[in-house]
Amino acid sequence: MREVRKIAVMTSGGDSPGMNAAIRSVVRSCAYYGKECVGVYRGYQGLIEGDFISLNARNIKNIINKGGTILKSARSKEFRTEEGRKKAFDQLAADDIDGLVVIGGDGSFTGAVVFNEEYNFPIVGIPGTIDNDIYGTSHTIGYDTALNTAVEAIDKIRDTASSHNRLFFVEVMGRDAGFIALNAGVGAGAEEILIPELNLGLDRLLESLKKSRDAGKSSSIVVVAEGDKIGKNVFELADYVEENLPEYEVRVSVLGHMQRGGSPSCFDRVLASRLGVKAVELLIERQTNLMVGLINNEVGSTSLEKAIKGQNIINKELLKVSDIMST
Ligand code: F6P
Repeated sequence: MREVRKIAVMTSGGDSPGMNAAIRSVVRSCAYYGKECVGVYRGYQGLIEGDFISLNARNIKNIINKGGTILKSARSKEFRTEEGRKKAFDQLAADDIDGLVVIGGDGSFTGAVVFNEEYNFPIVGIPGTIDNDIYGTSHTIGYDTALNTAVEAIDKIRDTASSHNRLFFVEVMGRDAGFIALNAGVGAGAEEILIPELNLGLDRLLESLKKSRDAGKSSSIVVVAEGDKIGKNVFELADYVEENLPEYEVRVSVLGHMQRGGSPSCFDRVLASRLGVKAVELLIERQTNLMVGLINNEVGSTSLEKAIKGQNIINKELLKVSDIMST
């Protein structure tokens, strides 16, 4: 096996704050260890098209604080086909690339596993998604920033909710996971939090809102995860509550993609820097098919396969705290 000389890095799937800090870390680690580094634009689609740029320690300067991703991101349909993956492999071979760092989420790692099975190409994943839904790391890059963005937005909604004595349903992102909803809900003091991992049920929701009113609360916030399984979307939920509890004036606010933007928090910058170094070190040591992550605040690794099959579990203690706090 020849020595690793050239490493490629890409961002794939939904962007998240801190991806640039991770790119910077990969590039600087390559420079530190005397390896060449190539950036791949637009994730797997750019890989298929050979859309590469040579990166060095200087041309990634001043990006640690920037949201989004300088390499851009995409969800490539073509990479799901055998022909697409063959083109991607040919581009890597033509450019003499020995290893690939994929910064992304679940879908990106699923692609990486298939690609590795077919071509035995060395890949290390760095978890970058606001959803925090990846097994093998307590935190994904971007999650902390998204949480803070959501809390800041809910704080503002609370101001107007309280001025008008209104009940607000605030929908946050997270796909099928409730990490953003639960943590932002507790952080912003929400009266109720609806997450996909726990179906509260419509009756319990009404009961709880009634209790809040009876306890003298004039305004309330209910944080709803976008993947919640109560059986109604956030707008239907608002109508349902207004019909059954006419004493409430209800409004809905969907936070949406603003949760994916903005300058990364210090936590995300540090996490991205740590994980980038580890990813490059693993590739140099020829340890591949792994995802780097934070486990008990130590940088470690998990097989990519486990990372996509395993499930990050919601913290039950936090559910209890949320219940007690809404008394
Ligand atoms: O995975 C990140 C995420 O923002 C999810 O929270 C959300 O469900 C999804 O991506 C939205 O995807 P898109 O940007 O393609 O609309």
